[in-house]
Amino acid sequence: MTAPATATPGAGPVVRISGLHKSFGDREVLKGIDLEVAQGEVVCIIGASGSGKSTLLRCVNLLEQPTAGTVEVLGVEVTHPDVDIDRVRARVGMVFQQFNLFPHRTVLDNCTLAQRTVLRRRRAEAEAVARKNLAHVGLADRAGSLPSQLSGGQQQRVAIARALSMDPALLLFDEPTSALDPELVGEVLTVMRQLADEGMTMLVVTHEMAFAREVADRVIFLDAGVILEEGPPDRVIGNPREERTRAFLRRVLDPTHVEAVTDADPGAAGAVAGGEAVPGSRPLD
Ligand SMILES: Nc1ncnc2c1ncn2[C@@H]1O[C@H](COP(=O)(O)OP(=O)(O)OP(=O)(O)O)[C@@H](O)[C@H]1O
Ligand SMILES: [Mg+2]
Repeated sequence: MTAPATATPGAGPVVRISGLHKSFGDREVLKGIDLEVAQGEVVCIIGASGSGKSTLLRCVNLLEQPTAGTVEVLGVEVTHPDVDIDRVRARVGMVFQQFNLFPHRTVLDNCTLAQRTVLRRRRAEAEAVARKNLAHVGLADRAGSLPSQLSGGQQQRVAIARALSMDPALLLFDEPTSALDPELVGEVLTVMRQLADEGMTMLVVTHEMAFAREVADRVIFLDAGVILEEGPPDRVIGNPREERTRAFLRRVLDPTHVEAVTDADPGAAGAVAGGEAVPGSRPLD
């Protein structure tokens, strides 16, 4: 397919990934991923450390260049050599574990910079949009603060307001609460739940199983670079079919085994889950 200059939201899935492979050197991290995300859908990606969750997310906006396969966002093939990737990225917000705010800029500036440089909005308009989104995440009164003056949960909510200020058609979240103190996780999940309720299309890598179970339309279990299991959250989290999914969930849901999930290298994770990676992804439910 060609890479049209403009996206056509609403015409098809927001994301369509086909036969995606990604290698770093001779290490193959993604081994044939097929995934579609529909408009308004919330898809949570779960899986052990090193299974390729971040790499998959980063291939969607080409922060990683796939080795093979195609990725379409809003009908634009981002893997096409002629793609105007900046134009696509302007519609795709990304929220990282480490917030990635500019430390010497105020909250308001953090939320207006990309609007002004990428979307070419005038200052007054950009500030109005930023203030609206800061209010939306409960931070109307912190526009003049520096990130260092905020808690981690507040900083992450600024990062979400910044992403929203670009009027995204899709939000990507990569473990947005894993760097937070436990008591701050809830406020960020509340904002994400609200966005989901408002119909935002979201692809979320998370270890928050309760959140995934409540908010996701679909959960994907990524295992050693393949989608081993996917389906409605109550099925995948509540009643997984695959032994490796069950083993993973036992480890995340049992606090005494948290270390094995967050710190294990991929080989160790595979060993814990019971052997070699399963080749090829499973058909969709
Ligand atoms: N830029 C890179 N260069 C080389 N190897 C990489 C690079 N990025 C990721 N990898 C490797 O790819 C594999 C998958 O990494 P990825 O970050 O996608 O895993 P993950 O599922 O997000 O893990 P975690 O839960 O720890 O965040 C890992 O073995 C990692 O070391
Ligand atoms: Mg990751």
